[in-house]
Amino acid sequence: MKAEIIINKNFIVGEIDKRIYGSFIEHIGRAVYGGIYEPTHKTADNNGFRKDVLEFVKKLNVPIIRYPGGNFVSGYNWEDGTGDKTKRPKKLDIAWSSTETNEVGLDDFQKWAKQVGTDIMMAVNLGTRGPQDAQNLVEYCNLNTDTHYVNMRKENGFKEPFGIKTWCLGNEMDGPWQIGHKTAEEYGRIATETAKLMKCADPDIELVVCGSSNYDMPTFGGWELSVLDHAYDYVDYISLHQYYGNNNDNTSDFLARSVHMDAFIKSVAAICDAAKAKKHSQKTINLSFDEWNIWFHSNGTKFDKWSVAPAILEDVYNFEDALVVGSMLITLQNNCDRVKIACLAQLVNVIAPIMTENEGAAWVQTIFYPFMYSSLNGRGTALKTIINCDSYTTTDNFVAPYIEASVIYNEEKRELVIFAVNRSLDDNIELSLNLEGFETANLVEHIELYSDNLKNVNTKDNTTVYPKKREIGEKLALKKHSWNMLVYKY
Ligand code: AHR
Repeated sequence: MKAEIIINKNFIVGEIDKRIYGSFIEHIGRAVYGGIYEPTHKTADNNGFRKDVLEFVKKLNVPIIRYPGGNFVSGYNWEDGTGDKTKRPKKLDIAWSSTETNEVGLDDFQKWAKQVGTDIMMAVNLGTRGPQDAQNLVEYCNLNTDTHYVNMRKENGFKEPFGIKTWCLGNEMDGPWQIGHKTAEEYGRIATETAKLMKCADPDIELVVCGSSNYDMPTFGGWELSVLDHAYDYVDYISLHQYYGNNNDNTSDFLARSVHMDAFIKSVAAICDAAKAKKHSQKTINLSFDEWNIWFHSNGTKFDKWSVAPAILEDVYNFEDALVVGSMLITLQNNCDRVKIACLAQLVNVIAPIMTENEGAAWVQTIFYPFMYSSLNGRGTALKTIINCDSYTTTDNFVAPYIEASVIYNEEKRELVIFAVNRSLDDNIELSLNLEGFETANLVEHIELYSDNLKNVNTKDNTTVYPKKREIGEKLALKKHSWNMLVYKY
């Protein structure tokens, strides 16, 4: 099979906002306890954070991490995780039927985030709490006034504000499973009033209002329109969440999920623009795809109710999952004109690229690699790509071209980077490139993620799926079912 990618330096999608390479740490399972934090671990630092995990996280160069949930936040009192650790209350975590010890909270997490070199995207509880508590939290994090919550922060040892810029107004409030689930009208009102107070306290923050929990929600579309009808003038982004799985073991369909993701993004952008038109507004609402990943392997895992840090949602990712994650990243890059934030959900142990053993090893899963390369090299200006190649139709009627690709150039580095997935299960594809405006470009690096067995996984003892450097030859071919990064210098 053959394919051609055509680009022109003047035909630009947009500047990639580095925050599309964000991630997510929730208080759930072993994400925090046994994940980023384990004071008894042999690599633990003075704050109890695992240095082995920290090193892997740093490799991903994640610019922003959403915290502390997720469903967890909708029943959470942020004050429980501040101040003297010995006085912090143990609480029921209703969202995940676990016990939350509160050994780690905002005070600790912001220390960890500093070590990682990442910003925090803070979610407020709009399930069991409301505007006042959210305002107090903004005060605690960002202000320097002589007032109660600022003084509380200072007493807890933090003279300087944390300076948290990006905030989520609750989590998945459209979902019946959510603590404090609301109708679109109820949520639209409380989100608006919360936004007003938060921005009054700190006008420099940016707010993400909850969109639908996923595309298949029966309220999808109507939810966004009603919520924006209330909150449009007070918020900056609307959220999208979506997880995919190969539930029917149909790999061709599974590899095409990013086409679904693309349609989802375009639908939400259209809804935002409809709301904009209705409001006669000059302001554009952008998108925060703040939960995305593969999630299905761990479905049905049993654990002891009310235990501390049970092993839940610990999906073990195989090679085909990495291909889907790679193509979802391409979709995010190709939609960078509207998607300004995206969070791979999640980061450690829970549906995550990084895994640990309690008191033991840390290792990386298959999906770590496309994420790492995209985050490190996918920064700059995304170009519109025209791809001439064959396509196939999925059982649910999505048309998927065999080649999925994004093209990003970085003028400073004089570099053009192409991320490409070959979805064909049978054929290598010979690729030709028509790079208008980059005629002198030279291929200097070809990284390939390939495994002959789509179901291969990485374990603590065995890394079977890992990227390899390909020889650069006369002809450029992308192996069947492979993820690729091509770096050109111009
Ligand atoms: O990421 C796991 C869960 O998925 C989150 O807590 C929730 O927001 C979503 O449903």
